[in-house]
Amino acid sequence: MAVEGTKRVQEYAGWREFKVQPIEERLKHFEKNNKPFDLLFAAQLKRDYWSSVFEVANKIRTIAKNKVGLDYLRTTMSDKRAMLFFSQPSTRTFLSFQNACHMLGIQTSTIRDSSTSSEIKGESPEDTIRTFSSYVDLIIMRHKEEGYAEKSAWLLNNTKRPVPVINGGSGKDEHPTQALLDLYTLERAFWNKGGLDGKTVALVGDLKRGRTVRSLAQLLTQYHGVRLLLIAPKTFQMREDILAHLDKAKMNYEVTEEFEKNLPHLDAIYMTRIQDEYDEGGESKSVDNTVYHFEKRHLAVLRPTGVILHPFPRRFEIDVAVDADPRALYWKQERNGMWVRSALILKIFAREAEILHSDKV
Ligand code: NCD
Repeated sequence: MAVEGTKRVQEYAGWREFKVQPIEERLKHFEKNNKPFDLLFAAQLKRDYWSSVFEVANKIRTIAKNKVGLDYLRTTMSDKRAMLFFSQPSTRTFLSFQNACHMLGIQTSTIRDSSTSSEIKGESPEDTIRTFSSYVDLIIMRHKEEGYAEKSAWLLNNTKRPVPVINGGSGKDEHPTQALLDLYTLERAFWNKGGLDGKTVALVGDLKRGRTVRSLAQLLTQYHGVRLLLIAPKTFQMREDILAHLDKAKMNYEVTEEFEKNLPHLDAIYMTRIQDEYDEGGESKSVDNTVYHFEKRHLAVLRPTGVILHPFPRRFEIDVAVDADPRALYWKQERNGMWVRSALILKIFAREAEILHSDKV
């Protein structure tokens, strides 16, 4: 028996044994035909896979420009239904997934608060997930617990209805689809400037608890010659597990507290907020984060070809006066989420060929 809050719930056999296996072993469980079936971790993603996701995303954004194209897109997956289970706050990830589904003709059901599901009556989280799979063909989820998306996918893969699970953010751990749309935005930014290979990228802010930067850092290792600056106050610096991943990949990276000094040398700067909802003892208030804010005056030192990203939500990390600068890509980045997530869903269901060969442009 496991304890969930004050309630005791039954546990499915086998999870504990599965979870202690090395990640490489566990990943095999979430693949089908050598590509992700469930998308749970950045470690599942290979550059050739996301390049083909981006190719599909480019095609979708072109097709979606007019009514004929949009009407066609809505037929491509109209035989599928999806569950959006978002028990942690979300605006962009939820809306972009929902609109991605609708654009492809996928009908959606939504739960945004576990207290409105039967978990409140003592149902185990596992039974809840299994219930979703009775009605839908795809589960997209965000949960505060690290590993819950993985557990859900593991569970469903052991049933007669293994529907794919996509992780839309797992606590302080990972946000793999955000990393995909971040890379898509970066690749488009450097399309005519020699590509992302060889560029200098800075991740700034709460690198310790920010799941977006944790996923993105891992994927950046697959570019050639990218130099990565991890700019954060000591309290919020990147954790050892990701640094070990960078070391293993022989990534050229630097851990630093210096923000302003590094600005003139960057091709891309990825700002993030302090994740104070995860504070254990007021640590956010113990640090002066204002030195990690991108002010309007910083535009003068950023390279003319430099770009600024932010996964949002923003507080004061980027002055709104920066938004009008052509190098500020975060609003484009936000919209890119919809194209990339549509493309990812098509890839998971192996439905992308029809779109790629479509003449609806
Ligand atoms: C982020 C998240 O939820 O991890 N937002 C997002 O999904 N675009 C970043 C954050 O909350 O700071």
